[in-house]
Amino acid sequence: MCKIKTQILSEKDTLVAAKILKNGGIVAIPTETVYGLAANAMDENAVKKIFLAKGRPIDNPLIVHISEIDEIYKLVSDFPFIAKKLAETFWPGPLTIILKKANNIPNIISGGLDTIAIRLPDNFIARKIIKEAGIPLAAPSANLSGSPSPTKAEHVISDLFGKIDAIVCSNKCKIGLESTVISLCSSVPKILRPGAITFQQIKNVIKNVEIDSSVTEKLNENSQPISPGTKYKHYAPNAKVIILNCDREKYISFINALTDKNILALCYDEDIKYLKIPAISFGQESDLQSQANLLFDALRSIDKMKKIETVYARCPMQKGIGLAVFNRLIRAADFNIINL
Ligand code: TXA
Ligand code: MG
Repeated sequence: MCKIKTQILSEKDTLVAAKILKNGGIVAIPTETVYGLAANAMDENAVKKIFLAKGRPIDNPLIVHISEIDEIYKLVSDFPFIAKKLAETFWPGPLTIILKKANNIPNIISGGLDTIAIRLPDNFIARKIIKEAGIPLAAPSANLSGSPSPTKAEHVISDLFGKIDAIVCSNKCKIGLESTVISLCSSVPKILRPGAITFQQIKNVIKNVEIDSSVTEKLNENSQPISPGTKYKHYAPNAKVIILNCDREKYISFINALTDKNILALCYDEDIKYLKIPAISFGQESDLQSQANLLFDALRSIDKMKKIETVYARCPMQKGIGLAVFNRLIRAADFNIINL
């Protein structure tokens, strides 16, 4: 792929970003979850550029971002009552809703499925750009396919500089993990990817909802996932990651008994002072939000350290947003977990 000139924009340059998008370009924009790589969702050629820049498998569908609930009617064939309830409760915010798509949606958006994933982001800059462009924006996370999603502009620059038309630089993304994805196209509404909007919050609104088994379990090779994204390797650093499921005491004695070289602990702030090996923290043990906010940056910084071969990670608590942290970390570890 030949190098293109990437403009580095600021939050004030929303009109410049909107113009590039209207003209069929691709622009990385901040959202409250992670940075997204946006293109006009109705322009097949523009959307193709996203797949090319990220190296994304073509059967992995994209989320379409809107700036007002009413914009959804052009994208779906039906906007059922429970979808309205979820949208009114959680939008703008980190919830993606999958519905049956309208006829005019390019196939490339939905990876050949008859459904479409839609989100109305809470980030003001993102909404301003969508509004000023006047088009729905397809936007996956703005990372190279397989690497951790970007929570800072510098992550996007490191992955995509020279491959995309522009980057709108903003603060660190507030949440730090991608949106909760819920499908309303199965017989019972299903959470396909956990995020900051938790299972319990959704259950309080629509009562009947379940969590897809792929959230915590490895798919067997022949099964067809509802969400194509779940079958690809994600978030993994170059080093091998092993999750240790245990309390602090067991974690510390396991790590301090290791004699191998080139190992690293991926742990909580409170663990570090007891460990005899190099360590990176992904937040505080009692603060699940801080873990969500720091995990991707921590995974990225492992690759910046030289010669690390194995990473021993603390196992996140699987409740609330902790389920989302666990879901991302277990993928980074390729489901390699030891119960101590
Ligand atoms: O927070 C987020 O959701 C971020 C920001 C930029 O909005 N976006 C994001 O997009 O994480 P992406 O493409 O990295 O992840 C979207 C996930 C993928 O696992 C994809 O397979 C799934 O949503 N998905 C998209 N459309 C789908 C559909 N029609 N049916 C099932 N899964 C779908
Ligand atoms: Mg992604």
